[in-house]
Amino acid sequence: MIAATETLEEYATATASCTRCRLAQGRTQVVFGYGNPHADLMFVGEAPGFHEDKQGVPFVGQAGKLLEKLLAGVDLRREDVYIANVLKCRPPGNRDPQPDEIESCEPHLFRQIELIEPKVIATLGNFATKLLSGRPLGITRVHGQEQALTIAGRSVVLYPIYHPAAALYTPAMLKVLEADFARLPELMGSGVQPAAVTAPEPEPEPAVAAPAEQLGLF
Ligand code: URA
Repeated sequence: MIAATETLEEYATATASCTRCRLAQGRTQVVFGYGNPHADLMFVGEAPGFHEDKQGVPFVGQAGKLLEKLLAGVDLRREDVYIANVLKCRPPGNRDPQPDEIESCEPHLFRQIELIEPKVIATLGNFATKLLSGRPLGITRVHGQEQALTIAGRSVVLYPIYHPAAALYTPAMLKVLEADFARLPELMGSGVQPAAVTAPEPEPEPAVAAPAEQLGLF
């Protein structure tokens, strides 16, 4: 039973031993989320990768470095927002999340949203966008288009953005990401002016490199 006074930290502790799906077997640890537990802005990515699985923190690899730069461009740090993923455990070899894994993990994401109560949820890439919008439209169609929705019983603005990894594979995508990030202050009801950011040089990671399309980034 969920206690009425449960905190995000308590829920994270309970989730650390999750065995709802097969990913429990291969993980180093559950990557629950990181950031301000009362953030107005929440980001939802896809799933932990190699570095996230090792460190227990989302978006600490190359895509995470770019996410931090994009955040800095709108005067935000990762501590100001909350960052989570659709899946809390790393899929083997960074493969795509499977439908049954998404379904098993969904209650964790929805409980996080209930407890954090964000005003804006920025979905990074196809998996988070399709799950939280409840629509099959891909990120290429819907990025940069905010939508007023009720999620986990709360009114939120859903704001789909390309996954930062897309700009690591396709550098031209950085401009699109910057333009979409630039609207975040307005969506959150502040007037901060965004600044230009540059993508970090990709470093080889021990994961198998795959074209962006195969990764479901577009
Ligand atoms: N990509 C994601 O979607 N999530 C992470 O935590 C890291 C990379």
